[in-house]
Amino acid sequence: MKYTIKNAYAGFPSVDLLGGPTPLQRAENLEAVLRREGINVGIYLKRDDLMPIGGGGNKLRKLQYHMASILNNGQDTVITFGGVQSNHARLTAAVCARLGLECHLILSQQVDIQTEDYQANGNLWLNRIFGANSHLLNKGESAPLFAQSLRDRLEQQGKKVAVIPTGGSTSLGALGYAECAAEIARQAEADGLNVRNISLANGSSGTQAGLLAGWIAQGKSPDIITGYAVMANKQITADTTRELTLSTLDLIGRARSSEPLVVNVDDNQLGPAYGQVTESMVEAVALLARSEGVLLDPVYSGKAFAGLLEQLRAGVYGPGDDVIFLMTGGVPGLYAYQSLLDERFTTTGVR
Ligand SMILES: Cc1ncc(COP(=O)(O)O)c(C=O)c1O
Repeated sequence: MKYTIKNAYAGFPSVDLLGGPTPLQRAENLEAVLRREGINVGIYLKRDDLMPIGGGGNKLRKLQYHMASILNNGQDTVITFGGVQSNHARLTAAVCARLGLECHLILSQQVDIQTEDYQANGNLWLNRIFGANSHLLNKGESAPLFAQSLRDRLEQQGKKVAVIPTGGSTSLGALGYAECAAEIARQAEADGLNVRNISLANGSSGTQAGLLAGWIAQGKSPDIITGYAVMANKQITADTTRELTLSTLDLIGRARSSEPLVVNVDDNQLGPAYGQVTESMVEAVALLARSEGVLLDPVYSGKAFAGLLEQLRAGVYGPGDDVIFLMTGGVPGLYAYQSLLDERFTTTGVR
């Protein structure tokens, strides 16, 4: 397989899966829509949904570091975890296809949605196209136990197995977003932005932790980064994020500050549970699609964008301020939610 391993962020080996920086794109139409509501703020989209493999998304940045380690170790088979509609699983499948690795996805029923499209379409369907082995667990079945017996079986067949934890959210994976923090800073400076906030979805926390570590490593204040929790409540999400940020800083050899680490997490958009539909998510998805022609996803970025809209409407930012929203991908998830969302889209007015 043709790939290049280079020394990337902080000298750590990385397989290039991106081919260069993703665009930082001004959302001028959305700005105009919001101006009619009296909101006068510069809004920029960091397009991490635009990447050249597997449909793109935040997981590719993390996988660049995981895969370099796997290839350097001579491993040929990958096991990873996720929910039935995991974007991380789909992107791991795509990257394994690209790198010639055997891929096993252990998929759990994390969301109580039984519609046909949720249980068969979206990411799950794409995993098959990428040639991955999807192992669908029954509700309550233990993913770690299943992984252990699968690993034993594969090793008995002579395979060299690597296990990537859920969401790729380890300090090694988080390096991908520390690198992205430096990329955002360069782009924002080149565009002359006055960045007051960077907003993103937080699920398994690796993305926010990486961004925080990368921001801190540049000597900047972590205060401007806001994660919208979509999986667990604010306390749990902030604690996980803090721990992972500190271990990422350790990994890159940054001394810990004596000051407590500020981790901004908002769980107002979580709704009834992970993966369940909220009205504000539906409005956010429709608003960005109908103003900019850009798609959010229903589980992560849709809820996070709803959170940013809530802040903008509350008047937290004003004229002269710029905010950046991290587009983390996940668009295949829209197909899994078609029957749940269809009716709502036809009835949601956004103008
Ligand atoms: C589309 C999308 N956005 C955001 C996230 C959240 O990233 P993290 O798990 O690193 O918090 C995920 C994680 O699965 C995702 O798939």
